[in-house]
Amino acid sequence: MLAVKKIRECFPIYKKHPRLVYLDSAATSLKPQPVLDKMNEYYGEYGVNIHRGVYELSFKATDEYDLAREKVARFINARTEEVVFTSNVTDALNKLALMYAKENIKAGDVVLTSELEHHSSLLPWMKICEEKKAGLRYIPLSEEGRITTENFKKALTDKVKVVALTYVSNVMGYRTPLEEIIPLAHENGSVVIVDAAQAVQHFRVDVKALDCDFLAFSGHKMLGPTGIGVLYGKKRHLKKLQPVFYGGDMNEDVYPDRVEIKEIPYCFEAGTPPIAEAIGLGRAIDFLEEIGLKNIEAHCRELYDYALAKLSGIEGFTLYNKNADIPIIALNIDGVHPHDAATCFEQDKVCIRSGHHCAQLVSRFLNCVGSLRASIYLYNDREDIDMFVGALVKTIELFRKLDGGQ
Ligand SMILES: Cc1ncc(COP(=O)(O)O)c(C=O)c1O
Repeated sequence: MLAVKKIRECFPIYKKHPRLVYLDSAATSLKPQPVLDKMNEYYGEYGVNIHRGVYELSFKATDEYDLAREKVARFINARTEEVVFTSNVTDALNKLALMYAKENIKAGDVVLTSELEHHSSLLPWMKICEEKKAGLRYIPLSEEGRITTENFKKALTDKVKVVALTYVSNVMGYRTPLEEIIPLAHENGSVVIVDAAQAVQHFRVDVKALDCDFLAFSGHKMLGPTGIGVLYGKKRHLKKLQPVFYGGDMNEDVYPDRVEIKEIPYCFEAGTPPIAEAIGLGRAIDFLEEIGLKNIEAHCRELYDYALAKLSGIEGFTLYNKNADIPIIALNIDGVHPHDAATCFEQDKVCIRSGHHCAQLVSRFLNCVGSLRASIYLYNDREDIDMFVGALVKTIELFRKLDGGQ
């Protein structure tokens, strides 16, 4: 187990809210002081624009921004020019879909995806397929709700040009077997786009080993600030894409009738980028590396197992994912709307998520209006799990009493 007491000292929110039981890290993680300090350092000491000024402060800001890109590249084992900063994973996946589809998708082509997708991964392709008269097809999920290699093989046809999949489901916590799926997709001539928003903060993602064509994630789920995301693309793919946004800092030369754009990745970063946020993300990566992803993974696994053991003796709820790959618990109290239940949890300062989690097809698959989701991260401990389970029992009993009284 990680030394949670010590770790929490780095997260100022616990000073302000000592009783906080934060189990909603899949929505966004808490932010450690070193990340806040690093962003403050930018604003307070060299808070000017990058790539523009020919003065020392601007050089310093540019260096720090570039260094953040290098840190991201090292973190996922990419080349620096393969890392494009965006404002979040939604921005990254939308931009990519627009850029890629422009030249590469025509009527009759197929985009293959899954019902486990977050709307950010699904909806850009839904709209593009509609406009281009291409097909949007779903890999049938297994009974448990997983994307399997077997079902992927069945859904793969020579019409499939793009495979757009989540690495880890934000509702079920299931990991997609991309290591098996990607080689099959490539043999078929399809490119693979990975939504890694729930992956990078939990286990090592190595884009070279994975051999994905594109991959995206958000900074704010991995201890970084909001407003920064990453789009990774293989160099040879990025070089072929035309930007969707034009403006300052992405062009080399402008003539009355044409523009010559900069090299990758700068051509995809029009306008003033989220400078402080990129620098903050770089510091968040340092923080994660200092603790060690393997240690975080082991810590979260232990808490997840502890939670499942505690839940096993309780009746009155449905657990949807007995065997998650990342520490996400998805459940519903029988007969109780998830929002009503989550409000009861709030009374014990237990913060969990309720609803369809921007992945409504998962709720449709599970045949529920939404679910409760508890997600565990490095600053959680057994006490948090005890509080969560206690709140669950209390809520089940409360609604039983209310039902009995009717
Ligand atoms: C799997 C997945 N993809 C995409 C997103 C969207 O992230 P953002 O709102 O940071 O763009 C989320 C956020 O919950 C997610 O879990």
